[in-house]
Amino acid sequence: GAPFFHYHAGELHAEDVPLRALAEAHGTPLFVYSQAALQAALDAYLAGFAGRNVAVHYAMKANSNLSILRFFAERGCGFDIVSGGELARVLAAGGDAAKVVFSGVGKTRAEMRFALEQGIACFNVESEAELEVLNSVAAELGLVAPVSLRVNPDVDPQTHPYISTGLKNNKFGIAHDRALGVFKHAATLPAIAIKGIDCHIGSQITTEAPYLDALDRLLDLVEAVEAEGIAIGHIDCGGGLGIQYRDEQPPQAGALWQKLFARADARGFGQRQFLIEPGRSLVGNAGACVTEVLYLKPGEDKHFCIVDAAMNDLPRPAMYEAYHTIAPVCKASAPLPPDAPLYDVVGPVCESGDWLGRDRALQVAQGDLLAVFSAGAYSMSMASNYNTRPRAAEVLVHGSTCHIIRRRETLEDLLAAETMKA
Ligand code: LLP
Repeated sequence: GAPFFHYHAGELHAEDVPLRALAEAHGTPLFVYSQAALQAALDAYLAGFAGRNVAVHYAMKANSNLSILRFFAERGCGFDIVSGGELARVLAAGGDAAKVVFSGVGKTRAEMRFALEQGIACFNVESEAELEVLNSVAAELGLVAPVSLRVNPDVDPQTHPYISTGLKNNKFGIAHDRALGVFKHAATLPAIAIKGIDCHIGSQITTEAPYLDALDRLLDLVEAVEAEGIAIGHIDCGGGLGIQYRDEQPPQAGALWQKLFARADARGFGQRQFLIEPGRSLVGNAGACVTEVLYLKPGEDKHFCIVDAAMNDLPRPAMYEAYHTIAPVCKASAPLPPDAPLYDVVGPVCESGDWLGRDRALQVAQGDLLAVFSAGAYSMSMASNYNTRPRAAEVLVHGSTCHIIRRRETLEDLLAAETMKA
């Protein structure tokens, strides 16, 4: 699933740059991103958009490095944010607040004020209580808040329960049955301007059906709301498209969108303004994490391969039992013998849940480098300092050039915010 990471003369490269050289220069663990892969992922969406009115709002929670944001901003993308902090990152990266939509169930008044003052495109409002608070915050500022209501379409995205968001028992969005009433109420609020409707049904979705179902449910509501004389300016279908971590075969972004537009056409909505909020599918397979084997620890039942990356760097296996492909940076010259031991690849953190891969066939020795693939999304952005571990460095490769886009944290960085009680 990662054609921009490939072996050349037995050495794993990101585009034209060998990962071994990057690890030697910048240390490990090291996140390496391929710019060509980012471009290809964006192009995959654009391929389905000819003749359509679609704005891509990159869901930056997937990877919020400033250089990654700038890359998407320069290509005309907006952003889907979920905090004031993410808005600050968009602005720092030179992004346009007018191309920002603000999702999330728990926006604070301070975050609302900040976003209103910056002039974001739209608040994706997730509850009736939030709508009231937003109305009052906007009125206090003498502004009108642009709003889309996030509707929970109650479709099953058939993904991991922790990352499915569009079922009625999830905390996200306004229940489909209540949505019409909330739109009617919103239309009466003086400091609210209705701009659109949105939904987001989950993440790592690998089939088309939930998208088509959600679109139908959304269009039903658009018809009902507009029949009440309330115009819906845009239809935001959220993100969620999956990537290949192992053997998943998610739909191609362009092909999926052609189908969705065919459905919208059939219902007379094909020329509406659409928004999408993809995260993982734009960045996930554009990144790998390079880690060094610290120790091999053979056991009676289990063999452990202890590496210098851990759950604080790559939290997805510990949190969701997620699978990430792990491969040697330098291919062994001999093929893997059939009786080669299987390793659990684990990190140094003091938790049994600190594993990156289980039962992996690897030909490794102490000091070898391994690459953990599909680490462009929800890895560095979810990294922590648990065990007082400085967060890894990040580099962006473009052809044969490499830019450090985040330096490795220092121990001083980690202690800087703390003071000692006298
Ligand atoms: N829009 C909204 C409102 C969202 O909540 C999300 C993700 C997205 C867009 C982008 O979804 P994507 O295209 O990346 O699937 N940490 C988890 C994933 C959490 C997704 C949260 N919401 C993981 O590592 O699998």
